[in-house]
Amino acid sequence: MERRDFIKMGCALCGATAVAAFVAGCSKLGTSSTPQGPSVNFTLNLSQSSNSSLNSVGGYVYSNGVIIVRTGTSSFVAVASACTHQGCTIGYDTGSKDFYCPCHGGTFDLNGNVVSGPPPAPVKKYTVTQNGTVLTIQG
Ligand code: FES
Repeated sequence: MERRDFIKMGCALCGATAVAAFVAGCSKLGTSSTPQGPSVNFTLNLSQSSNSSLNSVGGYVYSNGVIIVRTGTSSFVAVASACTHQGCTIGYDTGSKDFYCPCHGGTFDLNGNVVSGPPPAPVKKYTVTQNGTVLTIQG
């Protein structure tokens, strides 16, 4: 093998290795950015006492693996309640307006995206629609 051929082969190997590393990194990134949570479609009636927390801004309830929060006079947010790190149940912090995990300090914003801590992926966000006193949570 001539020196020129040897160098060409070395460059080809380096290129293939770089491409493989890039693809592996991208696939890991794609997996970790996929929101996690159950598929749901259920209703909550705000007139029921079990849902009375939702009648105050900052109040929240858990149902069907989802935490539903009243974020304003007529606005609600719902995300999966299981932390994507090790599955602890997340809560809502009215001060920071973030979801927090009591186990290892992970936090998520109102869209379910990781703000800080060890969670490897966002929690799934759901659509909330209100019709009178009935909320429908879907996603
Ligand atoms: S289980 Fe939520 S941060 Fe670890």
